[in-house]
Amino acid sequence: MILQTKVKVCTLDELSAVDREVVEAARCATANSYAVYSHFNVGAAVRLVDGTIVCGTNQENAAYPSGLCAERTTLFWANSQYPDKAVDLLAIAARTDSGELERPIPPCGACRQVILETEKRFNRPVRIILYGSRECYVIEDGIKALLPLSFDAAFLE
Ligand code: THU
Repeated sequence: MILQTKVKVCTLDELSAVDREVVEAARCATANSYAVYSHFNVGAAVRLVDGTIVCGTNQENAAYPSGLCAERTTLFWANSQYPDKAVDLLAIAARTDSGELERPIPPCGACRQVILETEKRFNRPVRIILYGSRECYVIEDGIKALLPLSFDAAFLE
């Protein structure tokens, strides 16, 4: 079995204006990150099917595991405020004390699992754009590209 992942590599300028708006929202959101322990400020933004854009950031805690990544903060907030609106696109950006990351920031494993659940919930793939100041990765096919052989509700039946 060979599992393949299709990722488009491009610069921010090469994205469409609508996609760029969501990436810019994720970049701006990094300013609201609460990352007092790691100093790794992550911003995420989702565009819902009706065009609504929702942002979130990582929220850390002195008891480290109690914090949450930007992607999950954003998806949980979006899905709790707009439970009937599917997520069309998720963009992720990050910066440290030295500035924005040049390389695109990928979602952690737990966030990938939550993106999968979002796809299942709305029966629709979530496009994903990982922002880096040098280049962006665009994943058009949804989370299956980043989480092959995934566990989902079908195994619980
Ligand atoms: N983090 C995210 O918010 N998203 C990711 O995809 C990777 C990591 C956060 C968690 C923690 O607050 C900090 O970045 C360092 O791991």
